Amino acid sequence: MPIYHKLGRIPQKRHTQFTKPDGSLYYEQLFGTIGFDGMSSLIYHEHRPTQVSAIGDSIDVNPKIAVSHNIASRKLIGFDVKPKDDFLDAREPLLVNSDVHIGLAAPKKSLNEYFYKNSDADEMLFIHKGTGTLRTFLGNIHFEYGDYLIIPRGMIYQIEFDSEDNRILYAESFHPIYTPKRYRNWFGQLLEHSPFCERDYKLPQDLETYDEKGEFVIKVKKQGMLHSLVYATHPFDVVGWDGYNFPYGFSIHNFEPITGRVHQPPPVHQTFETGAFVICSFCPRLYDYHPKAIPAPYNHSNIDSDEVLYYVDGDFMSRTGIGPGYISLHPAGIPHGPHPGTYEASIGKKGTEELAVMIDTFKPLQITENALKIDDGSYYKSWVE
Ligand SMILES: [Fe+2]
Repeated sequence: MPIYHKLGRIPQKRHTQFTKPDGSLYYEQLFGTIGFDGMSSLIYHEHRPTQVSAIGDSIDVNPKIAVSHNIASRKLIGFDVKPKDDFLDAREPLLVNSDVHIGLAAPKKSLNEYFYKNSDADEMLFIHKGTGTLRTFLGNIHFEYGDYLIIPRGMIYQIEFDSEDNRILYAESFHPIYTPKRYRNWFGQLLEHSPFCERDYKLPQDLETYDEKGEFVIKVKKQGMLHSLVYATHPFDVVGWDGYNFPYGFSIHNFEPITGRVHQPPPVHQTFETGAFVICSFCPRLYDYHPKAIPAPYNHSNIDSDEVLYYVDGDFMSRTGIGPGYISLHPAGIPHGPHPGTYEASIGKKGTEELAVMIDTFKPLQITENALKIDDGSYYKSWVE
């Protein structure tokens, strides 16, 4: 997160004595990324954050691969993913490679009986349905329809939902998730041509601090396993922190689309980047305004990247037979383009209300057993006239 933020109480000078009212010391923790080269925060705890009192079960949660070498375009009926009570059980990995796991979840219950930490991956949660609060050890973020929540690896969190009707698109990224470098200057500030700015971020607020001893379970995801660790002190015992490494939110509704006289390529929709894939936001916008413009995209071959589209709302102009919650996968190796009739039908249209999230990966995606269960099976033939 390339802006500085702080919450709670911190000492004036880093790495110096920070004293509690009773004269004892708070415990400082440097929480860094990429060794000591990435973003970091300095965190002050009531207790040492190292007090593991027991190690419980370890469960294998690696995705089960059904198709490891995929050449078919696919359509997944996302809302067919069944709601489940538990936040982690509800996650269904669908399209995966060694860089990213893309999946859907329909959790019914808040996560408040244990804490969760993904030490493998940064997490992107896109909220399609539901409202609530992401509660983390660095502060809370209220979320609603259209929010991206970016949770860097290692953040300890819980999540509260206001109702049982929740739908989430998620990506577990084994590379850090950043905003696009080309929209930032050499100080990290977002530039004027960026489709969003610092004011649009939802920063953590309302730091919760619990000075409690007991038995607190943190489920830690590491190397595809979910380990249960019992800690002797409350994981939310932070009295203050500052730095650049923290969870944040961003609403897709605050993405300001870049438009042109002729069709603009997908990079204008880019919202986040990693070393291995990008996340783009397709938002309601005015169409191209050249008198002979064709608003629908041309056929295209990104010969070396898989393209995943998650349809959120509105008519998607270049597709037929698509509804909210659907996922399309257009794999590397073959071209794809608008469905028959949509290319011509787009001419003369002034704008679109489409809302979608796109994830383009450089490595091919594998198809999981979960994905096959919601695959319509015939999408790859849908361009035949
Ligand atoms: Fe495409």
